[in-house]
Amino acid sequence: MKQRTLAIIKPDAVRKNVVGEIIAQITQAGFKVLACKMTSLSAAQSGKFYEVHKERPFYGELCDFMSSGAIVPIALEKENAVEDYRALIGSTDPAEAAEGTIRKRFAGSKAENAVHGSDSPENAANEIAFFFTESEIVANNA
Ligand code: CMP
Repeated sequence: MKQRTLAIIKPDAVRKNVVGEIIAQITQAGFKVLACKMTSLSAAQSGKFYEVHKERPFYGELCDFMSSGAIVPIALEKENAVEDYRALIGSTDPAEAAEGTIRKRFAGSKAENAVHGSDSPENAANEIAFFFTESEIVANNA
């Protein structure tokens, strides 16, 4: 069954100018881009997006980093999208990520790790709705 997930190309990867290479790796792995834009978040918006992590010691650092520059959220569709996208990006810590994964190729550290991926279909739906209206997605895929 087709599933959706949310990818975000984070500010470190945008600064490295590797947005195109990351999107190419995602689409070559069989994901369909349903919606995509370049935008940025305030610290408060980052805080809302990562609210589930608010008790974690790295929450402040994470919110500052995610609001430090442009990001590229992308709504993706594929069979088994959540799990397959997480396999494609690799471990949170690039030092532990498998060879050839997006984080191994482009991430510098656990904090500045190039890309985000939803961790469940339920969170994917909420995260996609954070950035895109359903009509934007439908309009782009009529
Ligand atoms: P992401 O997939 O966007 O989801 C939560 C993010 O928190 C994660 O990627 C990392 O960027 C960040 N993160 C997780 N662990 C740490 C850590 N120990 N220090 C700093 N940031 C972290």
